Amino acid sequence: MLIAHDLEVRAGARLLLGAASFQVSAGDKIGMVGRNGAGKTTTMRILAGEALPAAGTVRRSGRIGYLPQDPRESDLTTTVRSRILSARGIDGIFERLRRYESTMAKSDGSALEAAMASYSRAEAELVAAGGYAAASDAARIAANLALPERVLDQQLHELSGGQRRRVELARILYSRSDTLLLDEPTNHLDADSVVWLRDFLKSYTGGVMMISHDTSLIEDVVTKVFHLDATRAVLDIYSMGWKLYLAQREADEKRRKRERASAERKAAALLAQSDKLHAKATKAVAAQNMARRAERLLASTKAAGPAEKVAAISLPDPAPSGKTPLVARGLSKSYGSLEVFTDVDLAIDRGSRVVVLGLNGAGKTTLLRLLMNLEPADTGEVIPGHGLKLGYFAQEHDMLDMSATVQQNMMAAAPDLDETQARRVLGSFLFTGDDDAKPAHVLSGGEKTRLALATLVVSRANVLLLDEPTNNLDPASRAEVLRAIHDYKGAIVLVTHDEGAVRALEPERVLVLPDGVEDLWSESYAGLVSLA
Ligand SMILES: Nc1ncnc2c1ncn2[C@@H]1O[C@H](COP(=O)(O)OP(=O)(O)OP(=O)(O)O)[C@@H](O)[C@H]1O
Ligand SMILES: [Mg+2]
Repeated sequence: MLIAHDLEVRAGARLLLGAASFQVSAGDKIGMVGRNGAGKTTTMRILAGEALPAAGTVRRSGRIGYLPQDPRESDLTTTVRSRILSARGIDGIFERLRRYESTMAKSDGSALEAAMASYSRAEAELVAAGGYAAASDAARIAANLALPERVLDQQLHELSGGQRRRVELARILYSRSDTLLLDEPTNHLDADSVVWLRDFLKSYTGGVMMISHDTSLIEDVVTKVFHLDATRAVLDIYSMGWKLYLAQREADEKRRKRERASAERKAAALLAQSDKLHAKATKAVAAQNMARRAERLLASTKAAGPAEKVAAISLPDPAPSGKTPLVARGLSKSYGSLEVFTDVDLAIDRGSRVVVLGLNGAGKTTLLRLLMNLEPADTGEVIPGHGLKLGYFAQEHDMLDMSATVQQNMMAAAPDLDETQARRVLGSFLFTGDDDAKPAHVLSGGEKTRLALATLVVSRANVLLLDEPTNNLDPASRAEVLRAIHDYKGAIVLVTHDEGAVRALEPERVLVLPDGVEDLWSESYAGLVSLA
């Protein structure tokens, strides 16, 4: 259980949330929503105890399982299995069992006896902690999140960013926490995993609060909606499901607009009166009182903020290039004994559109990294064509320099850009004055995505490699990005789970991994997108 009282949340001096009181009790299924940058992640971090509120208190009882939006750095040499088991504190027991097993195999005499005794002790501890069932529980949860048995013995540094995040999710779901705090849990999940997660959360007996831009998941799972209204810095609490919430919120917004309009009318009348009275010295006090009443009226109804703004994104006009700016031949890649894909051929013509499909772990991100020359291929080669200018949107935003400012990231993407030009583009991506000086690591998930897109815009790339470009975006911003993808004149190689993004791309061709089969796009592939 978690109780927040008069919680005030700030980012620097900016007020994100003023005096909110609420609780998360067992059985609650709460969806926290609000536009990119509203302060959802910042608020959840405070609830999780990872940051302090500007004012107010959070009382926690029971165990809290928190999945942050950005993957946390843990010790990357631990195996996936140990990482997940550590959530119930039984990773150490398994490691000891393994160690004693290998000692027993190697030794005899008193050493063997000692190892056997230690083994039995460890096994007794394991039984007390839920036994082997607890371990198979972990494997089951992992498998449902597309982390099959063979991945469990890999070390974390061998995994992709998306896989690592799924490990963290598995770990938290496995922890049996009393309260789950999940920040964008579906970002790296395939469709099957989302379906499984939905049922898992629905039947969870503890309290759940999750942030998600995936409205169908929210609609399915939540029974309460907390809307963080960025313009008012207020958390509106709706104890109802998603559909009802949408209707109710619309009604509330209309009502607030009406109240405001009426308050403005009354205030104007009062002020006009007060002006008239002011002219007579004997009525000065009455005039002042009226003016004050007008002020109070206006203060009691917050101005209806400007309609939620959306970045007006248009991707760059591509620099001229030859007919086929990018060719790859015979690409293969393995990590250790794990063969990701072999012998992939690809030719990207000017202005062509290709979507890359494949199950989780089939190597989609790896392929883009090879094309981008961020990693060497084991075999084969990437051949840049005449005039090639690549632009890369990385899933984990790893092309952004997190310690550099927003402005510096733009300059790095296009060194000949002057400050005014950079500011203009940033402005169209909704970064205002003081945002430019923020270091990239403090940006919200959606803001990082916007910045990464802005750096693409100034780069004049003619071949874009886009890896899940719609993750983290609120619905309005996502629509804008889809439109930009649709209108872009250069070539695009797209990796996505988002069927809408594929529709916006109108691909001509599809590359299916790990087989590396290239085919003309047809509707029959559409169904595979969300499965991929
Ligand atoms: N240390 C900081 N200094 C300045 N601004 C900050 C800092 N930390 C966060 N912010 C700003 O606070 C705002 C809220 O960020 P937060 O990550 O909570 O948003 P969010 O609602 O989770 O958005 P998203 O949907 O994009 O994930 C953002 O505008 C962010 O840039
Ligand atoms: Mg966030």
